[in-house]
Amino acid sequence: MDISNEFNTWQSGYTDKVLRWVPHYQELLGSVLESLASDFTPSHILDLGCGNGNGTDLLMRRFPEAAFTLVDASEEMLEACRERFHGRPNAIRYVQGMFQEIELEEESADLTIAVLAFHHLEREEKQALFPSLRSWLRPGGRLAYADLFASKRSAAYLDEVLIPWERYAKSRGTEDQEWDGLMDHHAKYDFPDTYADTLAWLESAGFQNCRIALQKGPWGMVEGVRGGG
Ligand SMILES: C[S@@+](CC[C@H](N)C(=O)[O-])C[C@H]1O[C@@H](n2cnc3c(N)ncnc32)[C@H](O)[C@@H]1O
Repeated sequence: MDISNEFNTWQSGYTDKVLRWVPHYQELLGSVLESLASDFTPSHILDLGCGNGNGTDLLMRRFPEAAFTLVDASEEMLEACRERFHGRPNAIRYVQGMFQEIELEEESADLTIAVLAFHHLEREEKQALFPSLRSWLRPGGRLAYADLFASKRSAAYLDEVLIPWERYAKSRGTEDQEWDGLMDHHAKYDFPDTYADTLAWLESAGFQNCRIALQKGPWGMVEGVRGGG
């Protein structure tokens, strides 16, 4: 199954699932807002891998006049967003497509968020995407990228990621069979990379002031700014 169909099947009950399955989900979402300066007022926000719109929803409430572009591979997720945001005052554009293939306007966004989205890209795909991410931002525009930051190739992955993750998910009522399904998904569709690699790739793509803004073990948010040129 490709990633769009995989997430089509996740759409029903998505928020309930992600709250039970993903450690610190609400903090990860909240971090994309909390890191913004109080006088930062974006006029165009990109949500890459918007899912059912949880990140967009938070941002719309804070920035009711901003325009949004929501991108996702999954048509079902985008449809859930269309229903959820019907009647909101914001101008909203929906783009169905893969990050690896979409073409967005250069220098068009003031803020790009990506929450739990880019770990679905392999390391080479992340490195190839990051220059485009920078090009879609206006000078001074910000990237807030919340995700799992760890490498499956690390000897510590079991102890530092999988064991605490399972403990968290099961403490929130995730049944054994559901956990096994989630780990099948993790094996097939998740390719997380470390904070250090991610920050280095963002810097080589031309982002400035790259830093970890939230760190809860391997779950966190990194941010960067598009400089002047
Ligand atoms: C785990 S969900 C996160 C959704 C949302 N950002 C949230 O915080 O709940 C990942 C989303 O990214 C989308 N996605 C994954 N890989 C993608 C790709 N290569 N191109 C476009 N969308 C992708 C999936 O369809 C899914 O909706």
